[in-house]
Amino acid sequence: MPLLYRYLISLCAFGAVSSATDLTGNWVVSQDMNDGTFRRTYFNLRQEGTAITGSIRVTQFFYKIASSTGGPDGFTIVGSMMDGKNERKVTYEGKLVGDELHIGTRRGATLNEMVAQRAPEGEGAMPARIEPPQLHKVADNSLARTPPMGWNSWNKFAGRVTGDDVRGMADAMASNGMKAAGYVYINIDDTWEGERDAQGNITSNKKFPDMKALADYVHSKGLKLGIYSSPGPNTCAGYEGTYAHEEQDARTWAAWGIDYLKYDWCGARNLYTDDEMQAVYQKMGDALRAAGRPIVFSLCQYGRADVWKWGPDVGGNLWRTTGDIRDAWDSMTRIGFEQSDLAPYARPGHWNDPDMLEIGNGGMNENEYRTHMSLWSILAAPLLAGNDLRSVPPAILEILTFREVIAVRQDRDGKQGSRVSKNGDLEVWSRPLAGGAVAVGLFNRSAAEASISVQWADVGVRKPSHVRDLWLHKDLAVAPDGAGFLATVPPHGVVMLRAE
Ligand code: GLA
Repeated sequence: MPLLYRYLISLCAFGAVSSATDLTGNWVVSQDMNDGTFRRTYFNLRQEGTAITGSIRVTQFFYKIASSTGGPDGFTIVGSMMDGKNERKVTYEGKLVGDELHIGTRRGATLNEMVAQRAPEGEGAMPARIEPPQLHKVADNSLARTPPMGWNSWNKFAGRVTGDDVRGMADAMASNGMKAAGYVYINIDDTWEGERDAQGNITSNKKFPDMKALADYVHSKGLKLGIYSSPGPNTCAGYEGTYAHEEQDARTWAAWGIDYLKYDWCGARNLYTDDEMQAVYQKMGDALRAAGRPIVFSLCQYGRADVWKWGPDVGGNLWRTTGDIRDAWDSMTRIGFEQSDLAPYARPGHWNDPDMLEIGNGGMNENEYRTHMSLWSILAAPLLAGNDLRSVPPAILEILTFREVIAVRQDRDGKQGSRVSKNGDLEVWSRPLAGGAVAVGLFNRSAAEASISVQWADVGVRKPSHVRDLWLHKDLAVAPDGAGFLATVPPHGVVMLRAE
């Protein structure tokens, strides 16, 4: 093209650009997720005099703009939304540059700026709300008579997990002793989702090229495959959710050969209140039953709305009781030691879920990981390993597959344990086991070695005839007068006993 034309075109373009002085419009940032999908963030803005109103939609969140300052040359908008009883806020700073919006969030001195383009009006709007169904009881699916055991991708891989990783985990679990110890589910968490096809069927993204083939592979190893979705329009990571496609998605998962669903509230918070959670989860409970394949139903709504009271009624096999765990002593203990009051709600087929394991992810030492494993076993909690199974150091594998501790967790009576006593950082927990036995955890939450004693009467076995230290694989001498037991417990460590 002759230079003069190019110059004229760029002048025209510049002319058009420089006339855009109004922020009003629907703006979108498209972030390439490198898996065939795009994460789209929408800013639907209306500039009225000195005020900017409208909405912001980002991953699972939909905010109304509550306040603003500035204008096209530089502005700040604050979005606000109710999440259950709590208000969430987000602040963006932006400016108009030509016909692009440069906009971002600030962390300290750094503005993480993105470039937004104009999008058609209506694109990215929240879908209309569908009224939740009337409540009824979903029949028990008779799965998960003991708390599920397996692996989940989130804690280690988050958004990076691929189908090849999942195959690798299945290979490892089948051959490293975990399958033999009872682990069976290989669960894909968030970020497998692709777009919906023309018929509205959910597809998987490029990281998971063939879900049916993947399920066949996992099944060929004698294991089961789990998947993840949300009752909202978006998952927590901003991928496609199941909203308005409940039965269709349940049928798709059943056709792929899926055996376990983790259903994460996420984007549903924009359409429903916490009081409506039960009805929203019931919808998927019904859809799974209608799909006709046995699929474990795992509710993930961070322990809100007293889920333990209604989880079984919606067909739930387990329900999260807390926010997300991190691979850190503080996080693991804050969650684990707060579960005592929920003990009455656990029973075969229906379990409290204090979140997945962090064992082996590197943020805690072996004593701390043994505490994690012991506490989750006394709590009759699901055991979903969250580390990379393809490279597990022997000491970590030993903790994950420790038969005598797993036997406590798998006890057929399915009674969850609880706290017996607390003396500062020293705690005694017990769990009643089938046949009148009891498991006892002596936990030292302090950073120094400590002595912890237990009186047998306090844990419900008077004069036990047989006491065993599970982690030491050792029977202990029992005092004939039924006197208690005094243990030396390492810092952040545990001594776990079985008495009968
Ligand atoms: C929520 C859940 C996590 C994980 C992520 C995925 O935070 O609580 O366990 O599933 O979403 O986005």
